[in-house]
Amino acid sequence: MATKHLPLALVFEPMRSRDLPQVLAIENACFENPWSKAGFALHLKKPKSYEHFYVARHKDTVVGYIVFNVLCEEGHILNIAVQPGYQRQGIGKYLLASALEIVREHEGQVVFLEVAISNLPAQYLYRQFGFRICGIRKHYYGHRKDAYLFRKGDTDAI
Ligand SMILES: CC(C)(COP(=O)(O)OP(=O)(O)OC[C@H]1O[C@@H](n2cnc3c(N)ncnc32)[C@H](O)[C@@H]1OP(=O)(O)O)[C@@H](O)C(=O)NCCC(=O)NCCS
Repeated sequence: MATKHLPLALVFEPMRSRDLPQVLAIENACFENPWSKAGFALHLKKPKSYEHFYVARHKDTVVGYIVFNVLCEEGHILNIAVQPGYQRQGIGKYLLASALEIVREHEGQVVFLEVAISNLPAQYLYRQFGFRICGIRKHYYGHRKDAYLFRKGDTDAI
């Protein structure tokens, strides 16, 4: 997936402890049930080799982030968000394309992710990258808030 026309100069790099306030502000702005500070801080303190926490940075500003695992040739996108004021500028595509590159570097053959059935913008993004629905996770985001399980790979290239 090409990410050619980004209007901002961005870098994609590992999340650092000092990014946490900006990351949490985005997380809280984007999600009804946001990850806690501890969810991010634990990784930053004791990173595991299969966990990947990355930010997209514009100068000193964190404009988005993505969290994913790669384990036993399987990638799993766990979180992705773009600061509301920076959405619809290609940053989501940039984050996902950059993460998939790392999954490939770690020999990932298939990638999964969950997305709320009501979250159409995110589903459009994933579909552009070739993700397709392969299941439903009942009550994944709480009572009656089901998620689709999306998959890319195995039979097609990631
Ligand atoms: C989903 C999200 C990460 C996309 O980030 P973004 O930087 O706005 O995305 P991009 O500008 O790269 O757009 C990529 C594609 O996503 C889709 N998309 C993004 N926002 C959309 C919207 N509001 N309505 C419809 N489609 C949308 C489009 O297909 C778009 O491609 P296009 O511009 O060629 O039409 C962002 O909307 C976000 O942070 N949402 C809140 C958090 C969230 O829902 N995360 C996903 C959890 S599963």
